[in-house]
Amino acid sequence: MVVFETDRLLLRTLKHEDLDSVMNFWGNEEVMKYCGNNGSREREQKAIEFYIKLQKEKGFSAYAVILKENSEVIGACGFNPTKEEHKIELIYHFAIKYWGKGFATEAANACINYACENLKINKISASIHPRNLVSKKVLEKLGFKFRCMNWSEVTKQKEPYFELHIV
Ligand SMILES: CC(C)(COP(=O)(O)OP(=O)(O)OC[C@H]1O[C@@H](n2cnc3c(N)ncnc32)[C@H](O)[C@@H]1OP(=O)(O)O)[C@@H](O)C(=O)NCCC(=O)NCCS
Repeated sequence: MVVFETDRLLLRTLKHEDLDSVMNFWGNEEVMKYCGNNGSREREQKAIEFYIKLQKEKGFSAYAVILKENSEVIGACGFNPTKEEHKIELIYHFAIKYWGKGFATEAANACINYACENLKINKISASIHPRNLVSKKVLEKLGFKFRCMNWSEVTKQKEPYFELHIV
């Protein structure tokens, strides 16, 4: 089980028991409106299984983000694989009641530090829906730079594509 933390948050490998909490973000229509779409319990159960396996096989995954103050799983933040061996994709999704408190930036920073220390990567990528201005702000705060517009198979449109180069 991978575990790391920030001042306010604990991040750990997802577990099957996280499904109820996971439905508050991956299962929520408003949260996922710019990220493909929200899933059923069945789909998100499979997503949890995918990330548990990914962690075992590749050493990274999307992590459950737990608020230390109340021990709730408030979101997920971490990485998806890409077609390039040394590049991973950053993702972050949080339950609505926890938006606007700096948690995405705090969690993503911890994930990036974890990746830099533990993985052989040289780039982290991120794509956003053109109207997702909050996510763009988060990426800029993390030091990501806009590179180009890229076709997304998930949302079936061209999306702004960002990268963070690891030195
Ligand atoms: C995107 C998301 C993760 C951001 O989470 P968060 O915890 O609210 O983000 P943070 O508080 O760390 O940072 C948000 C920043 O955007 C700013 N912001 C908030 N609303 C904004 C708006 N409408 N327009 C522009 N900036 C905005 C905030 O002020 C903050 O910047 P600041 O620290 O300089 O004040 C969250 O809104 C979410 O889960 N959205 C749905 C999923 C999603 O879109 N994921 C992105 C990739 S698909």
